[in-house]
Amino acid sequence: PTTRVYNFTASEIAAYPDGVNRTVLAINGQFPGPLIRINQGDRLVVHLTNHLPNATTLHWHGMFQNDTNWMDGTTGITQCPIPSGQTFTYNFTVPTQSGTYWYHAHQSTQYIDGLVGPLIVHSPEEVQLQKQYYDFDQVILVQDWYHGLSAGLLDGFLASGNENAEPVPDNGLIQGTNYFNCSSYDEGSGYTCYDNSTRATFAVENNHRYRLRFINTGAFTTFQISIDNHTLNVIEADSTIVEPLPVHRFEIATAQRVSVILNANQSSTTNYWMRMEMNTDCYAADNPVLDTSVLSLISYTNSTAEPTSSVDWKDAYDLICQDMNNTLLVPVAEQQAPPADIFYQLSFSFAIGDYALDRAVINGSTWVPNKSDPTLNQAIAGIHASNISETAGVSTGFSPNQYVISLPTIQVVDLLVQNFDDGSHPFHFHGHVFWVMATSTEQYFPWSSDLYSQLNSTSSNDYTKNPMRRDTITVEGYSWVLLRFRNDNPGVWAFHCHNIWHMEAGLMAQFMSLPDVIKSWEIPADVANLCIV
Ligand code: C2O
Repeated sequence: PTTRVYNFTASEIAAYPDGVNRTVLAINGQFPGPLIRINQGDRLVVHLTNHLPNATTLHWHGMFQNDTNWMDGTTGITQCPIPSGQTFTYNFTVPTQSGTYWYHAHQSTQYIDGLVGPLIVHSPEEVQLQKQYYDFDQVILVQDWYHGLSAGLLDGFLASGNENAEPVPDNGLIQGTNYFNCSSYDEGSGYTCYDNSTRATFAVENNHRYRLRFINTGAFTTFQISIDNHTLNVIEADSTIVEPLPVHRFEIATAQRVSVILNANQSSTTNYWMRMEMNTDCYAADNPVLDTSVLSLISYTNSTAEPTSSVDWKDAYDLICQDMNNTLLVPVAEQQAPPADIFYQLSFSFAIGDYALDRAVINGSTWVPNKSDPTLNQAIAGIHASNISETAGVSTGFSPNQYVISLPTIQVVDLLVQNFDDGSHPFHFHGHVFWVMATSTEQYFPWSSDLYSQLNSTSSNDYTKNPMRRDTITVEGYSWVLLRFRNDNPGVWAFHCHNIWHMEAGLMAQFMSLPDVIKSWEIPADVANLCIV
């Protein structure tokens, strides 16, 4: 194991990723941020200097943070944000995990202004995988993109009197770039637009195989991605390696990662479009997106520049607001999901709560970050010790805007997530990978029958046998998912919708795992000092 050190400076830059000039939050002057690559077992050290006008954090999406919960980077939950002008060091090991991850700011809506980057963890198993399936490894960041700063868009959303008015993206980006037709902005638009913006190009050599690691770093769009003429083989989703699944087109929701194998086995004298459809049917708002089809070029060596005749795979599929079918994904490393010890339900919708309109409500609570006294600090201080129940349940010691579910013992938890809203929501669980036990397009969970025997009879074989494991899953409109996880990672872990507008509207709960272990911790001084302003 090695210690890998990165020096990051976050600052505002003027940039025009798709030709439209705007302020972008960059790391070391780059957008997207630098690629971090480590080996399994390594220690990752990131010195982050904050030259932004506002406080910030970095979250390492998908990392377990065993015994380093305070390095999770979540404002108001695991740390106070890093004030402008200060340097803070993230420092943790990655002993057991590997695959495709990413990092992003976890402070308000900052990440969609640019504070994102890929985090790849290599492992010995990957060497075998590579021998079998691919010659080259390529990370591809995809995202929706706004021409306005997120803070203003958020204010507009929360003040709109209509939770269905999420800001609609102006464009999509592949690898931080895309074309935009400047003529759609007239003189008075207030935007400076350069018409020479370019699409990303990925060069391939004939008859070589490429692992394309897609990461959706966007605000809220689910994309459907295809490459003309080429069948793709899915081999990874959210860092779980799966048996190769051939597809023409795959879905990737916000914060999810999908690796596919591209075999460059088509005519080498032409090029092919990679197509990324923004599914506007998934947006509640009717606002038009200017260009929903985001393109980049797969360019064979020695070929002509413009794609000529090729099969556009997208016609073969309907646009849907769904995950890739999780039951088709079969993990290579087999696991039998253990039986659940306890059952917990989270139901959510948008409703009139403490904040009247435009706030999300999850089991009756609307999350508001407690930026000066994070949940973890409160849990360690033991302020609420008397309220930490012996049995699993909501800990009443915390303020009502911190929906903290205490899980006092090492147990297997079944978590039912029930969506009473019409939109689809990509939920992410910090510090964990969960088993996807069941998903449904029905609105109501079948309480009346014995769920578990029902699951057994509806799946072709034992539903606990090797279910898909992920860290981010889409809960479709008016439907539910059943997730299972082992409560064995002490800490306070966010569980939230990764749609940035919904998270900031309060669609977040927190699990406090093993509070007795947490109480024995001392927060390292440099982390604790962030709360002294
Ligand atoms: Cu990608 Cu709460 O995070």
